[in-house]
Amino acid sequence: MVVGLQWGDEGKGKNIDELLSHGVYSGVARFQGGANAGHTIKFKNKTFIGHIVPCGCLQKNIELYIGNGVVVDAISLMNEIKQLKDLGLNVVPRLYISNRAKLVSYLHPFLDQADEHRRNKLGTKVGTTSRGIGPAYSDIRARRGLLIGDLLLPDFAQKESILTEFHLNFLNMYKEKYGFEINLEKIKEAKEKWNKAVKELQKLQICDLSSLIQKKLSEGKNILAEGAQAVMLDIDFGDYPNVTSSNTLPANVCLGLGVPHTALRDVYGVIKAYTTKVGGGNFPARIKDQALEKLFQNAGNEFGATTGRPRMCGWLDLFALRHAIGLSGANKIFINKADICLSDKVKVVTGYIYNKKILPARNAFSIADAGGKEFPLYLSEVKDVITEEISGWGNTNYGVKDKKKVSKELASYLKYIKNKLADLDVKIISVGTGPDRDHFFSWDK
Ligand code: IMP
Ligand code: MG
Repeated sequence: MVVGLQWGDEGKGKNIDELLSHGVYSGVARFQGGANAGHTIKFKNKTFIGHIVPCGCLQKNIELYIGNGVVVDAISLMNEIKQLKDLGLNVVPRLYISNRAKLVSYLHPFLDQADEHRRNKLGTKVGTTSRGIGPAYSDIRARRGLLIGDLLLPDFAQKESILTEFHLNFLNMYKEKYGFEINLEKIKEAKEKWNKAVKELQKLQICDLSSLIQKKLSEGKNILAEGAQAVMLDIDFGDYPNVTSSNTLPANVCLGLGVPHTALRDVYGVIKAYTTKVGGGNFPARIKDQALEKLFQNAGNEFGATTGRPRMCGWLDLFALRHAIGLSGANKIFINKADICLSDKVKVVTGYIYNKKILPARNAFSIADAGGKEFPLYLSEVKDVITEEISGWGNTNYGVKDKKKVSKELASYLKYIKNKLADLDVKIISVGTGPDRDHFFSWDK
């Protein structure tokens, strides 16, 4: 599995693309999330921004799987298939969708916006991608959602209209109680697009994906599970409620694809040499100097691939990273965008300063027992961060492909990170130095 160890946008797409180029994996599987993800893949002169089609779509011999844990946005999916066709790639024959995957309805994005409107008034806006992810997962948990398999049944239209009626009632509640403006014209447009996309989706290969993947594994094939979002956005272990609505951790690969826990092998964790976060929520490592943050945004092109929003930029947060490694069991680390350095001195976050009065709980082990290293439940309680400063490395490492050609400052930074993770069983296997697939060098063997 490939998992993001920060707040998303670590560049997983690029690493997946590179991992696939060695012929070890026969397929790539999405197991959670939906079209909230956004990965930009560059290959030769082709650039493709994907949201729901698994990475690997640009490599002709790779099978693409969309697992039961995914909420499928039909409009996005059909759009991406078309964009790939325009690039000369017909992915339809190698794309398999679980009949147990979930369908995002055309009103889910509106419900997403409606609830953001409600939260905004309370000052607790999440800053979602407006792709309907939360409402789609809510419907599934409440057992009123639509499965991809439902599309193949004669009573699909009836099922859909029952859900739509429920959604419209819900939207009206948002209108009456919270003043959410319902744009009927936009809804009509979404409905038309969705109906068309759903009809096309019906013709794709919808199957019992769990059995298919188990069969492939029993034949000795390797499949790469592609994590969307990242550990710090996990619904259980991220900074709730500033999270996405799925479990992003490797533990969810098995549930989101329908494979036993024994099927999981290496966990590749991906980070950037700095940190970014898009949307609302708490971000302890955020760079305080606004001008410097802007430099990172521009140099790293840190604008959401799904929403275009500027991403907040922060220093590498080793405290959060250690938490993420512990939860994910990542054993091989990719560090991306290490060519980007915009100041003479670089800060690294090594701890959080936080305190909230918590009633003493019986039988619970205390923060003191955890050596003061317990990860806070509420990142909003982090008052400040503890940082260490090390020398920057300028802009001389762009495109470096050989470990021996790395500037000595960047080499020190990598050694410093490695040292800080020395007690964890991880290797930094590769370091990215630019956007292209071959812009990286191997570090630990
Ligand atoms: P949602 O997943 O659209 O509900 O958004 C919930 C939170 O996760 C928001 O803060 C989003 O900005 C963030 N988020 C969702 N998907 C991604 C992603 O692919 N990269 C980075 N942040 C994401
Ligand atoms: Mg992204």
